[in-house]
Amino acid sequence: MALDTGTSELDAKAAKILQKNDRGGFTIPTARLYPFQWNWDSVFIAIGLDTFDRERAWVELESLVEGQAEDGMIPHIIFRQDDPDYFPGPAVWQTNKSTISASGISQPPVLASVVLRFANEQGDAGLRHVEVMFDSILKWHRWWHNERTPDGCDVVCTVHPWETGRDNCPDWQIGLNNMQTDPELEPYKRKDIEHADPLQRPSMDEYDKYITIVKFGRDHDWNQKILTNDGPFLMADPGIFFILLRADRDLLDIAQRLGRHDVVDEISSWITAAEGAADYFWNDKIGAYCARDVRSGVFSNGFSNASALNFYAGVGTPEQREQTLGHMRRIAAKTKFSQSSWDPDMPSFESQRYWCGPIWCQMNFMIAQGLAEQGKGEMALKMRDDLGALITQSGFYECFDPVTGDGCIGTDFSWTAALWLAWASPSLPRSSTA
Ligand code: DGY
Repeated sequence: MALDTGTSELDAKAAKILQKNDRGGFTIPTARLYPFQWNWDSVFIAIGLDTFDRERAWVELESLVEGQAEDGMIPHIIFRQDDPDYFPGPAVWQTNKSTISASGISQPPVLASVVLRFANEQGDAGLRHVEVMFDSILKWHRWWHNERTPDGCDVVCTVHPWETGRDNCPDWQIGLNNMQTDPELEPYKRKDIEHADPLQRPSMDEYDKYITIVKFGRDHDWNQKILTNDGPFLMADPGIFFILLRADRDLLDIAQRLGRHDVVDEISSWITAAEGAADYFWNDKIGAYCARDVRSGVFSNGFSNASALNFYAGVGTPEQREQTLGHMRRIAAKTKFSQSSWDPDMPSFESQRYWCGPIWCQMNFMIAQGLAEQGKGEMALKMRDDLGALITQSGFYECFDPVTGDGCIGTDFSWTAALWLAWASPSLPRSSTA
């Protein structure tokens, strides 16, 4: 049943959610389930904050950069203080690599792209903020290219499903099945399943493996090269790859505007290398960009929402793009709303379990942006309308069942509120793209 609120009431509610989740200079995704600052959440939240408080949007991004580790990584969670309601908290990670306590892995690097978006909107005033952050973002991109690109591999990889942001997507089962749970893992108590329906969250087996990887990092003093080359899990994620490629292009644009000619060659070389390596992800068997286990070379055979991010990265021959669109149309015909996080034709599809099916607004936002840029405006508009309809039907949930439209897991969720304000709200001109 649709919420009995009008558009402007939902706009006001969205702004209120962002204010309610503000913890003083940074915004949590939702109370209790995620009580700290999350990396890509904050970046999408800033896009929403920018619609009503431009300076606060910059503060959100600056507070994220404050958590940067000495090796350049911007961590996936910045703790600032402990919270007994969350597991695994700072006492489990034990990173000690930044002035603020944080996790030991990263998350998809959308920051440069949003910084460029703000610079485009705000002219010189925006560029002054960008200048302050530029070296930190550059250092983070360098970290991806150096520390997360394993020896002998041409593409950036990931060491933990949490780093991809697509936590329990069935893509990761290949890598998780290749590793053992550490027999010395200390007993632990999950908190997430006290705050959310366990049927919508990852399994216990997945959690044991997630914590095993954290233990490996901790046991190796968070030496990121060791974690990448010798850690228990090593997969290549089309999501991280496409997001980083776009972010590198956006960083290059920023460098040129700031007159930072000293780093233009370095950034350009990352872009050229990635453009030449994108076919590493192309799975001929199904005709799509898919995740891949790096050590065995085995492809995932399902179409995820990250498979559709090639448009956002401007990647693919006309045939590869057409095949990608074919999958999107096939999936759209099976689900009421687009774009599900996992392929409904796969046996592992679950319409309400986290990344095994539900729709995620931030993924829709990036996919639609890519589609619009590549001349697929109609599909982009449908994704925008679908998100608007989902929120109007169910509220500001963390993610949504693509078949029924029901909201799943976290409520009053910050990035959903933010992307309503910046993109999906019918108060905005319908012609506006992401
Ligand atoms: C969680 O706690 O589920 C997070 O996704 C980890 O980043």
